[in-house]
Amino acid sequence: MVIAGGTGFLGKSLSTYFVEQGYKIIILSRTHHLDTANIQYVKWDAENLGSWTTALEKASVLINLNGKSVDCRYTPENKQKIYDTRINATHILQKACKQLKHPPALWINAASATIYRHATDRAMDEQTGELGTGFSVDVCKKWEQSFFQEQHPKIRKVALRIAIVFGKKGGALAPLKQLVKKGLGGKQGSGMQYVSWLHEKDLARIIDFVIQHKDTAGVYNAAAPTPVQNISFMKKLRKLYRIPFGLALPTFALKIGAWLIQTETELILKSRRVVPTRLLKEGFRFEYPTIEETLYSLK
Ligand SMILES: NC(=O)c1ccc[n+]([C@@H]2O[C@H](COP(=O)([O-])OP(=O)(O)OC[C@H]3O[C@@H](n4cnc5c(N)ncnc54)[C@H](OP(=O)(O)O)[C@@H]3O)[C@@H](O)[C@H]2O)c1
Repeated sequence: MVIAGGTGFLGKSLSTYFVEQGYKIIILSRTHHLDTANIQYVKWDAENLGSWTTALEKASVLINLNGKSVDCRYTPENKQKIYDTRINATHILQKACKQLKHPPALWINAASATIYRHATDRAMDEQTGELGTGFSVDVCKKWEQSFFQEQHPKIRKVALRIAIVFGKKGGALAPLKQLVKKGLGGKQGSGMQYVSWLHEKDLARIIDFVIQHKDTAGVYNAAAPTPVQNISFMKKLRKLYRIPFGLALPTFALKIGAWLIQTETELILKSRRVVPTRLLKEGFRFEYPTIEETLYSLK
C-alpha cells in the first residue's frame, strides 16, 4: 500500500490500521522520516516526477491524502497552496501511473464532504446532493476533476468525500473537547448547522471495504449515516465529560476567535448534512454509526 501525504493525521491512523492487517506500507513524504519494520518512507516533492515513482510499481493500492491543511486563514497565498498541494499531487501521481508497467490496481483519492452546499433542509448524498459554491467547494470540485480527468484501463479509481474525521490522535475533536472542558462548549453560531463526521476506524474500514469489493468505483460519501445539529452535538460532548454548562459562542465571537487562532469560521459554521447512501446500499456497515458511540469510544 502506498500512501501519498501519509505522515499527517489520517495517514498515521490508516497506517496503524493497515499494518495490523498485514500490509507493508510506503509513505510518500516531502520530509525525511526513519523507516519502521512495516513502513518505508520515500521522498517526493508532490509536484515533479522522480525516483519515487518506482515505489508505485506493483502496489496493490495507492491512497492519496496529500494537501495543506484547510485549518488556516484563507489568505491568497494559503488558498493557492490549498489548491496546489491537492491538484498538483493528483496530477503527478496520474503522470507517474501512466509510466508504470504494473500500476496500482486501486487508487483511492481523498476528497471532501465540503463539496456539498450548506444544507440544513435535507441530507446530501452522491446522487441527489447539490454541490455548493465558494472557495472550499471549488477546491473540492477541481480536486475531483483532476483525479477523474484521465482513466487508466488497469486502475480502479475511488474518490472518498470524507467528512470531518474524529480520532484519538489529532483531527478536529481535540480542540472541541478543550472548549467543552473550559466551559465554552455551548452551541456555536445558531447551533442549527449539521455536523457530518466519521470515526477514524470507520474510515479505515471503508477503505478496506473498497479494497475487498472490486466492483466499487467512482465517488462515495465517507460520512457516518446520522449527522447531528451542532447544538445537539455540543450537548452530547458536554454530557460525556459531565460538564453541566457550556457558554454559547455567537458568530461574532467565533469570528474573533478564529482570527486569533488563525483559522476560518467556515469549518464550524458550514452545515454539512452528508449521508453515505452508496456505501450503505453496497453493503458497508458502520461500526460507529451514531455520534454517541463515536464520542464515547474516543473519550
Ligand atoms: N482530517 C479530516 O477530517 C479530513 C476530512 C476530509 C478530507 N480530508 C483530506 O484528507 C487529506 C489528509 O488529511 P489529514 O487530516 O491527514 O491532513 P494533514 O494531517 O494535514 O496531512 C496532510 C499531508 O499532506 C502533506 N503536505 C503536502 N504539502 C503540504 C503543505 N504545503 N503543507 C502541509 N502538508 C502538506 C503532508 O505530508 P509531508 O509533510 O510528509 O509531505 C501531510 O502529512 C487532506 O487532503 C484533507 O483535505 C481530511
